[in-house]
Parts: sequence; structure tokens; C-alpha cells
Amino acid sequence: MSILCVVYRNVPSNSQSQPLSQVCLGCICEVSSGCNTTIGCSGAVCGPFGITWEYWTDAGKPTLNNEQLSDNAYPKCVNDPYCAAAAVQNYMNKFGRDCTGNGVVDCEDYLRIHRLGANGCNGALNSKYENRFKLCLRTFQNQ
Ligand SMILES: *[C@@H]1O[C@H](CO)[C@@H](O)[C@H](O)[C@H]1NC(C)=O
Repeated sequence: MSILCVVYRNVPSNSQSQPLSQVCLGCICEVSSGCNTTIGCSGAVCGPFGITWEYWTDAGKPTLNNEQLSDNAYPKCVNDPYCAAAAVQNYMNKFGRDCTGNGVVDCEDYLRIHRLGANGCNGALNSKYENRFKLCLRTFQNQ
């Protein structure tokens, strides 16, 4: 678990527009990259959450410090831990749903949508990935 998960916990959240708790955000970051904020881009994904251009676009193209859109707005945003987190919040506002059928939209649903997309989110997760996520949630949920 990285420091960043702890950092996210101090960001004020508004449950209307920011459906993910700070712990949930931190754990998705953790399983996506070890929450490595200097991981950069590789192939089609960038930043600690492993966000693609399409995902960022669906999230409404948030920009770092609300700058105007520019050619490098996508990597600048998603390589920044807070702008990337805002993209995840926006994305889940739009696509959040109960993938597991347990009657609530919870962090596991958000992880599944992040990883598998909203349509395929009831599919199988890589078990190593899933176990790491559940351990993260268990560790930080009750603090
Ligand atoms: C983060 O990713 C970069 C680029 O892949 C790598 O060089 C660095 O060692 C990673 N940092 C950690 C803490 O894993």
C-alpha cells in the first residue's frame, strides 16, 4: 500500500459528484499500478490508474488545474494523481452500476468497471488482482 492511498483520504469528497470513497480510489490506484505516480504512459494506458484516452474522453476530459484543452491535456491529467482520480470519479458518475448484483453500487463494482468496462463488469477478474484489491479494502476500510 502506497502513501498515496493515505493522501487520498484527506481530499474532501462530495458524494453527489464523487461516488468513490478515498479508500476505494486508493485501492483502485494500488491495484492498477502500485499507485505509482511516475509510471508514465505505456501502450494505450497512462498514469497510476492506467487510464486510456477513450476512458478520459468518456470522463469528460478533465484537465490539470482546469487548464484549457490542449494536445497534451490527456497525459498531463492522467499522470497527475488528483486529475486522474477526478477522471475516475467522473467516469463512475456516468457508468457506475451494480455489476455484482448485491443490490448496492460499491467499490468492487467501481473496480470492475474500471478494469472491465461498464458492459463487461460482471466478468471474471484476474484472481491475483482481485485478491490484492480485497486485501487493500480490508486493510483500509475500517480506519
Ligand atoms: C514507477 O514506475 C517507473 C516507470 O516504470 C519505475 O521506474 C519506478 O521504479 C516505479 N516506482 C516504484 C515505486 O515502483
